[in-house]
Amino acid sequence: MSNKEIFQIPPSFAAQAGVDGAHLRQMTADAARDPERFWLDQAGRLDWTRRPTLASGSSFADDVSIRWFADGRLNASVNCLDRHLAERGEQIALIWQGQEASQVERLTYRALHERVCRMANVLRGLGVERGDRVAIHLPMVIEGVVAMLACARIGALHVVLFGGFSAEGLADRLNDSGAVAIITADEARRGPKRIALKTVMDEALARGVPGVRHMLVLSVTGIDLPMQEGRDLALAPLLAQASSDCPPADMEAEDPLFLLYTSGSTGKPKGMVHSTGGYMVWASFTHEMVFDHREGDVFWCTADISWITGHTYVVYGPLANGGTILLFEGLPSYPAPGRWWEVIDTHKVTTFYTAPTAIRSLMRDDDAVVKGYALDSLRLLGSVGEPISPDAWIWFHEAVGRGRCPVVDTWWQTETGGILIAPIPGAVPQKPGSATLPLPGVDAVLLTDKGEVIDGEGEGCLCIARSWPGQARTIWGGHERFRQTYFSFSPGYYFSGDGARRDADGYYWITGRIDDVINVSGHRIGTAEVEDVVATDHRFVECAAVGVPHDIKGQGLVVFVVARDASVPDLADAASLAVTKGIGRYAVPERVYLVPDLPKTRSGKIVRRLLRKIACHELDGLGDLSTLADATIVDRLIAVVGPAK
Ligand code: PRX
Repeated sequence: MSNKEIFQIPPSFAAQAGVDGAHLRQMTADAARDPERFWLDQAGRLDWTRRPTLASGSSFADDVSIRWFADGRLNASVNCLDRHLAERGEQIALIWQGQEASQVERLTYRALHERVCRMANVLRGLGVERGDRVAIHLPMVIEGVVAMLACARIGALHVVLFGGFSAEGLADRLNDSGAVAIITADEARRGPKRIALKTVMDEALARGVPGVRHMLVLSVTGIDLPMQEGRDLALAPLLAQASSDCPPADMEAEDPLFLLYTSGSTGKPKGMVHSTGGYMVWASFTHEMVFDHREGDVFWCTADISWITGHTYVVYGPLANGGTILLFEGLPSYPAPGRWWEVIDTHKVTTFYTAPTAIRSLMRDDDAVVKGYALDSLRLLGSVGEPISPDAWIWFHEAVGRGRCPVVDTWWQTETGGILIAPIPGAVPQKPGSATLPLPGVDAVLLTDKGEVIDGEGEGCLCIARSWPGQARTIWGGHERFRQTYFSFSPGYYFSGDGARRDADGYYWITGRIDDVINVSGHRIGTAEVEDVVATDHRFVECAAVGVPHDIKGQGLVVFVVARDASVPDLADAASLAVTKGIGRYAVPERVYLVPDLPKTRSGKIVRRLLRKIACHELDGLGDLSTLADATIVDRLIAVVGPAK
């Protein structure tokens, strides 16, 4: 890539940035030379009840053991709240903007602390104990953040569940995590629509979730719902009665802070386990470094709190750093296009962090929309969740950032806890479409298919050679699966599942998943998960799911099904319904093809690569067909899907 495609750091930004090029080089060198010392120093950004004397004791070998700051003790909610009270008790911690312009609430650190203590006491009063799991199933309302921090306060693990999961998807996660209590709401507002939350949760529990003892219900839209005696409780009266004094639990650094479910290439979603100490150090370190955090910032991360991005950059990172967060309940274009820009102007947002899928859909609006807003409070933009194409990057930079704001393209995953590869905005010039360079202490490598290290320029599988504090410790109830999934590709390396290219400047360009995971509007969906839920309908013999490019969503899901009796009506709709029922509406297939058979190798493996090409109507270069058990399948599939385009 030539220099003219490099975006240098705007001098006005560089002049005030917290970390410049020389500083970053020094940090990177320090982290490489003496990681133990570097990370112990970084641990100093938190308040500990017992300061750690050890940094890493991690090993990617044998059974895989990941441990950081193991002899330290702390509480995450204290780090996000109590420790700020003396200096910034009256500073705004959280601005909530509801869907309607008139719905605004501003909470100081003192007020947020009080709300968290009340919620924590409600949970304690119900018998929730340290180590218990509490499911949080809420819209983007203040109580979502409060509930997370309340769990952290009493040492319970939160399990935040997306409002778009189906009853089946919820039941699976509740049972896997062994949740004892649920905090949900009557409904979520989504533009003109209402999304039932408690009713879906009732259906989930009706499927058999024996561990759940209590369901706390927040009233958001105020509808009347049946409450199950002895199990369901209205949240508001309990909060009103609860004490606002709640001593925090003193946690070990390695005690888990939360579980968060994500999809992989095989089996059911896995509950990634994140630690208290290492995760909090990582959240604070990366938020400050990558977003150049400073006093007076108003930080808006548009992610739902049920996403890892919502955990680390709506809640834990910015609050640990004493920032002001914006929580927005609404949609980008409701009630009219330009809603997000209006929110930025109204609340003087300085730092705006969103996803390429949203950027692509906003780019479709007439440019007059975005031009109609001042957007002069913005100083930094960020992107996360999928590769951002150079044209979307440039639009974001020009139309939203007015050429004045660096764009940080941040690569990371649920498993990594926080950002691993991104430009430090005052130090690293950006190239549109590249996540640029690993953060200090992040030992990124590219490996060939055979596990050999690629030096210099090249393309391969993105792996990490050494543990970092924010890394997930294990899969809940499945350490062997953890080892297998992430550490068996090439022993000694963490395998990300992503492909990447490294250019002559050492910049990384993420090319997307190289395993059977697809990314639909930033939602990770395992193709195996889709195939499993379709297979529960016995009218189907077999099924294969693939991801195809989609203009807005990044990828869309295409499903091929083989029916026992293809003359039965509405089979394609039945397969679609099986997916939305089994996983959720967000996984709805773009297309379902009823096919006579699936392409298989002689050893019986489905050749997804071929299905992907046929689904995209790319019939040139179908590749080597000689491995197919029956090569006539190609024409029979094309007859269903249609010819080349
Ligand atoms: O494929 C990568 C993509 O999102 C995956 C992680 O998804 P999830 O665990 O849901 O976490 C999303 C939020 C961090 C990755 O394996 N991905 C994430 N960020 C980027 C990305 N792909 C390209 N560029 C990025 N900046």
